[in-house]
Amino acid sequence: MALAEHTIRRGEVSIRDLSKSYTIAGRRLSVLKGLNLDIRPGECLVIAGASGSGKTTLLRVLAGLETADGGGVEIDGRLVSGVGTDRAVIFQEPRLLPWLTVLGNVAFGLEVRGEDRARAEARARDCIALVGLGDFADAYPRQLSGGMAQRVGIARALTVQPEILLLDEPLGALDAMTKITMQEELARIWSEENVTMVMVTHDLEEAIYLADRVLILPKEKGRAARLIDIDLPRPRVRSESRFVRYRQELLREFGLH
Ligand SMILES: Nc1ncnc2c1ncn2[C@@H]1O[C@H](COP(=O)(O)OP(=O)(O)OP(=O)(O)O)[C@@H](O)[C@H]1O
Ligand SMILES: [Mg+2]
Repeated sequence: MALAEHTIRRGEVSIRDLSKSYTIAGRRLSVLKGLNLDIRPGECLVIAGASGSGKTTLLRVLAGLETADGGGVEIDGRLVSGVGTDRAVIFQEPRLLPWLTVLGNVAFGLEVRGEDRARAEARARDCIALVGLGDFADAYPRQLSGGMAQRVGIARALTVQPEILLLDEPLGALDAMTKITMQEELARIWSEENVTMVMVTHDLEEAIYLADRVLILPKEKGRAARLIDIDLPRPRVRSESRFVRYRQELLREFGLH
């Protein structure tokens, strides 16, 4: 094995000169332009930005669901082309299979990959316990609340032991109280699983609660993306003065007060 392969750590993402545009009704729309960013192994990077600024596009390129038209993404030194088992994606809606139980839904991905049922279910049970749903393994999706369903989605993503967890507004559809509980859960899971997390959110408080760094994508493509370090100890306290100052700083980035 080459020396370089020994020195590269897991879950390290390198985005180089990444550009992506779409053509809508004959007009070319530049969505991402010359983006450069290194995501550290084990980091929690939160992507924020106005609607249409390219957050989902960036996440889809990282997932390999979308190809860039300039530059590229390397994960642990390998160029991303297509989806891979090193990454798992969590969308806003968990998209569970209604005819399978929680256990069946969580084990499904492993069974599809050829894992034998007993091993898949054992791993699935661990992940279900990790998201706090141990008592609901035999429930069906229709018997769950929105927050519980989203936890199942997170458990399903974790079963395959991804190096990188990609989340697109995973808590966007939840009520305010459930959202706060789920943010705490995500912070715990992230630290316990030691996974690199890249998450899109509109919620600035959520960004400050979870992120090591917040990437703000510009709406106007002439401008550069901004990176803000969130230098706060964990667990974070929303009412603390430094937390509130970060909130003000992010609001200012969006031209708000
Ligand atoms: N498949 C596609 N085909 C054409 N245009 C697209 C496609 N996907 C996204 N776009 C365009 O790219 C731009 C960025 O979209 P994207 O979904 O990445 O934004 P976003 O930052 O995630 O927004 P939101 O906060 O509303 O989810 C939008 O102007 C959108 O119209
Ligand atoms: Mg989006």
